[in-house]
Amino acid sequence: MEKLTGLKKIKTAVFISGTGSNLKNLIKFSRLKKSPISIDLIVSNTSLAKGLKYADQFKIEKRIFDFKNLKLAENNILILLKKKNLKFICLAGFMKILSKEFIKNFDGKIINIHPSLLPKYKGLNTHIKAIKNKDQFAGSTVHYVTEKLDSGKIILQKKIKVMASDNYVSLAKKVLKQEHKLYPAAIMKILTSL
Ligand code: GRF
Repeated sequence: MEKLTGLKKIKTAVFISGTGSNLKNLIKFSRLKKSPISIDLIVSNTSLAKGLKYADQFKIEKRIFDFKNLKLAENNILILLKKKNLKFICLAGFMKILSKEFIKNFDGKIINIHPSLLPKYKGLNTHIKAIKNKDQFAGSTVHYVTEKLDSGKIILQKKIKVMASDNYVSLAKKVLKQEHKLYPAAIMKILTSL
């Protein structure tokens, strides 16, 4: 595996499908001097992703790919990533599952943030599950992406206490706020030798 270190920032793509609060946060982080990444491309599977507005706001290229044909979409993304010399991918609320073949091309260089204490609650509706099960703790996890959904090696994870007064909406809000600290911290952890 090619090592991602050096003086220059690592060219990174962020993949989104929705609101993009993590995207916005990562863009701001990427522009700090200490950040090991620059964000040079935003990829979405839908033109409805609200987060696409950050492409215009922060003057970053955005591209939308139709995932109805997964293979075609992934091939086109790969061509673009190679052309732009992008070396790292952050998934941030990206709702499509990438194929084994795609991941192989970026082995160990795709990470994701997930709103649960993995391995608990892979997939969707994590906050609803945590409330329903009366969990004492919830949280978020940044992990490497492998072909198995939400199952790659954990980079960083943080817990928060679920209060008796919490419902899934309030919990989601708290976890998202926590995610905005966790994602940059995870990137620092793996891409800098502090
Ligand atoms: C976050 O909770 C993230 O953990 C999950 O999807 C949500 C995306 O939120 N994968 P946003 O689009 O970054 O605001």
